[in-house]
Parts: sequence; structure tokens; C-alpha cells
Amino acid sequence: MEFYHITSRTQSIVFKSENYSMPAIIYWGKKLGEEVDLRQMDTTACYDLAGGMIDAVIPIDIFPQGGDSFAGQAGLKIRSKTGIKIYPNFRLCGVEATNSKFSCVVSDDKLGLIYNASFWVDVYSDLIVSSADLKSQDPIIVDWFSAPVIPIDDFAFELVEFSGRWTKELQMNHAQWLPGARVRDNPTGRSGHEHFPAVFVINQDSNNNSGKAYGLHYGWSGGHKMIAEELPDGRRQIQMGHASGSYGEADVTFKTAPLYMAFGGDGLNSVSTQFQRFVSGQLKNKPASRKPRPIHFNCWEAVYFEHSLERLKNLAQTAAELGAERFVLDDGWFGKRNSDRTSLGDWNVNCEKYPIGLSPLIDHIKNLGLEFGLWFEPEMVNPKSDLFINHPDWILGLPNQNLGRNQLVLDLSKSEVIDYLYNCINEILLQYDVDYVKWDHNRVLPIVEAKQTYGLYELLARLNRSYPKLEIESCSSGGGRMDFGILDYTQRLWLSDSNDAIERMQIQNASAMFFPPSVIGCHVGPKKCHTTGREIDVSTRAWVAAQGHFGFEFDLDELSHDEKSILKEVVNWWKGNRYWRMDALRYRLDLPDPAFLGELQLSQDGDNFVAFISQVTSSAQALPRKFRLPGLNRESLYEIKLVNFQKRENISRGRMPIKNQPIEATGEMITEFGIRLPITNPQTLWVIEGTIK
Ligand code: GLA
Repeated sequence: MEFYHITSRTQSIVFKSENYSMPAIIYWGKKLGEEVDLRQMDTTACYDLAGGMIDAVIPIDIFPQGGDSFAGQAGLKIRSKTGIKIYPNFRLCGVEATNSKFSCVVSDDKLGLIYNASFWVDVYSDLIVSSADLKSQDPIIVDWFSAPVIPIDDFAFELVEFSGRWTKELQMNHAQWLPGARVRDNPTGRSGHEHFPAVFVINQDSNNNSGKAYGLHYGWSGGHKMIAEELPDGRRQIQMGHASGSYGEADVTFKTAPLYMAFGGDGLNSVSTQFQRFVSGQLKNKPASRKPRPIHFNCWEAVYFEHSLERLKNLAQTAAELGAERFVLDDGWFGKRNSDRTSLGDWNVNCEKYPIGLSPLIDHIKNLGLEFGLWFEPEMVNPKSDLFINHPDWILGLPNQNLGRNQLVLDLSKSEVIDYLYNCINEILLQYDVDYVKWDHNRVLPIVEAKQTYGLYELLARLNRSYPKLEIESCSSGGGRMDFGILDYTQRLWLSDSNDAIERMQIQNASAMFFPPSVIGCHVGPKKCHTTGREIDVSTRAWVAAQGHFGFEFDLDELSHDEKSILKEVVNWWKGNRYWRMDALRYRLDLPDPAFLGELQLSQDGDNFVAFISQVTSSAQALPRKFRLPGLNRESLYEIKLVNFQKRENISRGRMPIKNQPIEATGEMITEFGIRLPITNPQTLWVIEGTIK
């Protein structure tokens, strides 16, 4: 019997293999000491056998097979080219293991199948990442291929999942384990609003800041499938892989996307901060995202398709005066694009709107000292376009399929399509000084096909290689394509098309489960929100947007003098704090008043923090309840300031010191005892800053 132990600073995974069997995870949880007796672990948790079972407890190994009485879902379902089911009988051929890496190869020589699984520690974030690949001598059809399968601890009680829709991303749902399989299978061909590819598993008493929590994220942009199953004998497993149908045709090599795993003993935040750190670590390695984030002005909600050079120049001027540092020309600059009914695919500058090209606008923007960003939606084509007329055979799916936002999807498994798109984008990038691309993707796919996602990754990788300093934002009708797969090639995520600050309080709060502040695009929208009709004052809109990568996206002419001053104040605060907030850790707060939502952003060294305490609705009780902040240096003394104090004498009459001056408290005091804030109105938020003295 062999045992293997890999460990990061936060977590350990222990594998066991007996008689050359497929290795199984027997422990995933808190970091174990080097000296731990793994054999003891195996003995203490050894299973009994009950009546009515077959004569062995078949391990939930990293690749449980069908065909040998395993009473749960198999991690692999394959067929021959002619459709006959194949049940491999894998034997272990080799293991390579250190304390930070484990990989194994198993094979079925008769069937000509080789399976390889790897687990490795990401040192910067402490995540453990795993993936698998499968090779076959003869072409086979893969119906289901899970990344290495993860058994779940008996004490892990509840699943936390994410669903959503356009303008309401990342809704969190709690589900309890029940006997049987809970399956999420995303048929949209993108990671999607509907099925964010992650799940957390928590103990009964876990919350944001305490209790054990496990997180799994499948880093894939093409839609995932998750099976969370309680077997008839009570054991539990989680499988994650590409969505059904992803591996369309018979083939000889298959691979899963990386599965990112984190365990934390201090609640959901102790898992989330590892995910965030992973993303920050990746961004640090990229020339396009190393520099501090510039403040955006995006013209979409200001002009939509009505581009006029004068109007855009004026907007750029006002944006610059307000403190913007990058102007993004959104949809409408190409082909005959006066509405969303035409021209996707024709990536040449619209000569009615821009008779001598984009240079007059770009020159103006650059003279104002701003960077320039440009919108593309490369994977799509409108039937009303030159591209479609010339290449009707380039579309993905059936010829007479439903349109989505009047558009079809290009088939990126065709190398000529990738070449065409690369050349179109390259021509624009060669001609104009473009610092940033907003890469959109505004419909679900007609069919699920992994080759489509590989094609996208290839296209993005080519652009990354040619333009290493070009920053790319992943947008998909807002947050329809946010995952660690796309973040390999992009640096910013457009979190949601909802610029409604109240909706945003919740969406942004949930985004802290995975992403650091610097990758989440957050814009101040118009006073009357275009997607909800709600009217929100500029202070709330601006402070909510200031939680992420800040920007404005509305007709700036609607601002009064006073509103401009408020916006400028937030801009100045944001600029003054953006350096340490690049990779600040985000903690979702457990607040005793359900009318509030709170987020702490803490510098990696713990010296600075900002907390956003949002009053979403009115409270049931008259006096505000306290809030507590996790993660601070307990012995240190912090100076705490209410950054956006506004007098509200009709509702807040007390004499609280924090209203007039900074107060002081130790980390321990803030963490254990808590702080109380003045009364405020619903749909506003307090911004509290702390600095070590
Ligand atoms: C999508 C994006 C928006 C905007 C429009 C342009 O909906 O999410 O931000 O770019 O497309 O058509």
C-alpha cells in the first residue's frame, strides 16, 4: 500500500494506491504536518461492509470506473467509434510524487488507453490545481470525462453554487446533500451567467469567516458539468469536467481543464482569498496588467450606436477633466453598425461615422493624456454582413438556427476563421494605437463544442504573443464569460451589464468569492439606470463602482457641478489607493443586520484596509448593529476614518466620534468587538478606511 502527501501552506491532499490500483484521495483538508502517519489515517477511517452491498467498498478513486459495480457516477464514459460502450480496466504504471506535485499514469494495454492525472501546488496562492488527459490508440467517443474526482469529507454539509442571468450574475444558492446525484450541465457553450463553474462545500456551522470550507473551480470558458453525488452508501464525490457534448467527434486525445482547489479553516473567505491570490499572481506575470489600473470612460451607455466625432471628443474631454485615464470606444465603430442587426464580422472602420478613420478621435484622446480602448466581438457574425455573404459556411451549428441578438457564431475549429479574425484585429492594432480591447461575446452557442473554446484560446494566445502589452477585457453580455481559463489570456472581467449600483452591491459582493478588486470592471452608470429604471444618486453609484476597477459609463453631460465634485472626490480617493488595492484581499463580511452587505479589502501585509458597508434596504431595528472585520493584524493599532461621511441630521442625531474625526482601535478590537457606524439611508454605503499607526 502506497501513500502520497502533497501540501501547500494551507491544505494537504493525501493519496492512497493499493496493489497498483488507481490512486484515491483519502484526505483533502487542513495542512498536515510532515510527520503525519498516513497509514494511521487510513486505519482510523477504514470502512465496514453492510448487508446488501457488494463485497467491497469500491474506493472513490480519482477516476472511478463504470463496469465494476461502482454504485456512483463513473468519472469516464466512453464508447468505440461505432458506439459500443467501453469499460477500461486501468492498472497503475507509474507515480511521480514530491510534496508539491503528484502525478500518475494508468493504462489499459488491451484497449490501448493511457490516462494521466496531475496535481500541483500553486506556491503563490496555495491553491492545488489538478487536471487529466486521456490518450487512445483508436479513435473513441467521450461522453463524460471528469477532471480528477474529489471525494468530499463526511462533515462537509452543504453546497454553495452560483447561478445567474443577464444583469444579475453570481447569485449564490445553498443546496444540501441528498442521496443521488445533483448535476449541473451547462448547455450554453460558455462559462455563462447561468452556471458559474464553481462550487463550495461547507460544514454545518461555516459562514464567511469561520468554519471549514472547500472550493472547486473548473477553469474553462466553454461551459462545465458538475456532478455532486451522495452514493447509496453515504459517501460523497464531486466531479467537474467539460459540459456534455463538448468532445463531439471520435478522437484519440482528450484533456480536462484545470480544476482549482482550495481548503480553508476560516470560512468561505479563507478559500476565496486563495482564489483571488491565484488571479493576482497570474496578473503580476503579465506585462499588460502589471501597471496600476487606469480609470475607464466607456461610451456605451452614453451614446450606444450613435457615434459622432464631436460628441465623442467632448465626452473624452469631460471624462479627462473628471479623472478618467482610458477612453473606450464601444460597439458601433465598424462596418455599417448602426444597430445590433448588422456588421459583426466586418472589422473595418465605419466610413460614414469616421470618414478618415479613427485617427482624429484617437489623436484627440491621446492628446488629452488618455489611453485608447476598442470594442470587438470577434467570435460572432450577423447574417447581414459581408463576412456572412462571403462565408456562409463559417458558422457554427445548423444553417437555419435561431439567431441570438441577431447574430450567429463563427466556427473557431476552422483555422481559416481564426486566421481571418487574427488578421482583422491585427490590421486595426497595427494601424491604431490601441491599449485595450473589450472582447465581447453576446450570445449562447448553438452547440457545445470544446474545439470552439480551444479555437478562442488559440486566437487570444496569438494576440497575446503579438501584443504582450495589450490589455484585454473578457465581456459576454456582462459577466457571461468569467473563469480562470479566460483569465489566462485576459486581464479584466466586465462583471455585469447592470450599472445599477444597488444590484451591483450584491453582484460585486459575490465576485469576491473568486476575483481580486483589480480585475472586476465596475462603472458608474447613469443616474437613471438603463437596465432597472432605478434612480440612484452619484455618491452611491461612485462609491459602489470604486470597489473594483473603476470607470464611468454614462452621458457625462447629465452631471451637475456638485455631482462632478462628488465624482472627482471618489476618483481622487481611488487613485490614491489603487496601488495596494491591485492585489488586496477581499473578505465578505458576516453582518448581524441582513439589510447590509459588507466587503473588506485588506492589503496583503495587513497594514491598510477599506471596508464598504452597504445598506441595501432599511433595517428592522432603529439603531445600526456593529460590524467586525477579519484578517487584520491583531496587535496593531489602526486609525479608522469614515471616508464619505455625510451629515444626515434628520435621521442621525447622535454625537459619535467617528463622524468628526478618525478613531483608533487595535486589530483585535475591530475583529472581536466590532465598530458601529452612524445611521444612514437605504441604498447608500459607508466607506471606512484603516491604516496602521
Ligand atoms: C454587451 C456588453 C455591453 C456593450 C454591448 C455592445 O451587451 O456587455 O457592455 O459592450 O454589448 O453591444
